[in-house]
Amino acid sequence: MMPLPFAEPYRIKMVEPIHRSTRPDREKWIGEARYNLFNLKSQHVYIDLLTDSGTGAMSQEQWSAMMIGDESYAGSRSFEKLRDTINELTGFPHVLPTHQGRAAENVLFSALVGEGDVIPGNAHFDTTRGHIEFRKATAVDCTVDAAGQTGLYHPFKGNVDIQKLESVINQYGVERIPLIIVTITCNSTGGQPVSMENLRAVRHCSEKYGIPLFLDAARFAENAYFIKIREEGYANRSIREIVREMFSYADGMTMSSKKDGIVNIGGFIAMNNQELYRKASAFNILFEGFLTYGGMAGRDMAALAQGLTEAMEFDYLESRVLQVEYLGTSLRDYGIPVQEPFGGHAIFVDATRFLPHVRKEEFIAQTLAVELYLEAGVRSVEIGTLLADRDPVTHANRYPKLEMVRLTIPRRVYTRNHMDYVAAALKNVYDRREQITSGYRIVWEAPIMRHFTVELEKTF
Ligand code: F0G
Repeated sequence: MMPLPFAEPYRIKMVEPIHRSTRPDREKWIGEARYNLFNLKSQHVYIDLLTDSGTGAMSQEQWSAMMIGDESYAGSRSFEKLRDTINELTGFPHVLPTHQGRAAENVLFSALVGEGDVIPGNAHFDTTRGHIEFRKATAVDCTVDAAGQTGLYHPFKGNVDIQKLESVINQYGVERIPLIIVTITCNSTGGQPVSMENLRAVRHCSEKYGIPLFLDAARFAENAYFIKIREEGYANRSIREIVREMFSYADGMTMSSKKDGIVNIGGFIAMNNQELYRKASAFNILFEGFLTYGGMAGRDMAALAQGLTEAMEFDYLESRVLQVEYLGTSLRDYGIPVQEPFGGHAIFVDATRFLPHVRKEEFIAQTLAVELYLEAGVRSVEIGTLLADRDPVTHANRYPKLEMVRLTIPRRVYTRNHMDYVAAALKNVYDRREQITSGYRIVWEAPIMRHFTVELEKTF
């Protein structure tokens, strides 16, 4: 008997047309965009793998929840529903809604982080690092070394190296470290998960030194899926139980709901400590809005409560991760160097190994991302030197360990045919990689978070 193949646990009810274009069109558009893919109009993109953030498709249950959103300024029913869902899912009693993940970081760090502080963690996401450096504090990356070797198999490349963490604490002293942040899954190393064992070890360290531990939980459900599949002792535990255990090791969390909340906008902070909640509440009101909406409409909170629940369904998670894996396997079969094992939300292409003739000063990963767009209208994103930005003190370019192009898969949006198209497009670029020998130089850049708005020109 033939084993039945996996298929998505949903079917398509509403369609959004997307359009192909010609190479001369794309040459014109990317030139006008100053070789920055963020500057492209979405109608000039055929398959958009820029991000999985806010780009997912909502379910019929989420759309119907939107119709009963309570738009009251204070005491909204939709907030209560959301707060109850978060309490149940995480165990944290205090919840502050925010308009997105970086807003949660801004509010929490306003209450916790000051000049000269040091915040260790596992490869902080760029907005997290940005909010830390904006406060003249320092983010220290304590990720395991395995994360930097794309060809090496390690089931949990998001893990914190406990020795590195301890030595940061000993070097700077507890009084300069207001919190530890662990990002699940770790976006910057390739959507790589953190194991339960590692979370327990970080917890142990945080208790030993009395430093609060916060999870950057944007992709918490995908992290839980990997624990279930890859970590000994979790195969028979439900995603819900695993999620609850992960959060039990932390004092709180920040969330970008645009990922595993499966909504188009939203975020929140959740925590145990009431005093911190009160302190952060003042900043929430100042920056985001009143405590029962924080920058979200009532209908957004209603859709989020439903989305968080759907994100923990095993069949959904399996089809999502297997779709990402399908793309990764296709690329690997073509010989294209990718971060392995494959991550939860994206395939990360190792641009340095892909384009050995482009100098790092000419932005290798950006060069590859532009080539992929020119080839087939596929928009990816650079996770490399442009994103790593300049050192805040010396202003020299920071060259990260990995120069990567991220092919980020939106939730419940694209089909297997789209994955085949992307893989074929990248293979065509790979076949002509010997002819790609130069990249780009910066014409203009912003003083912080430059990758969003940077303007480039060809060096050839
Ligand atoms: N933390 C992580 C791990 C993220 O991946 C992001 C966003 C944020 C925080 C900030 O959340 O966008 O809602 O303000 N990541 C997106 C991405 C933008 O493309 O990876 P936000």
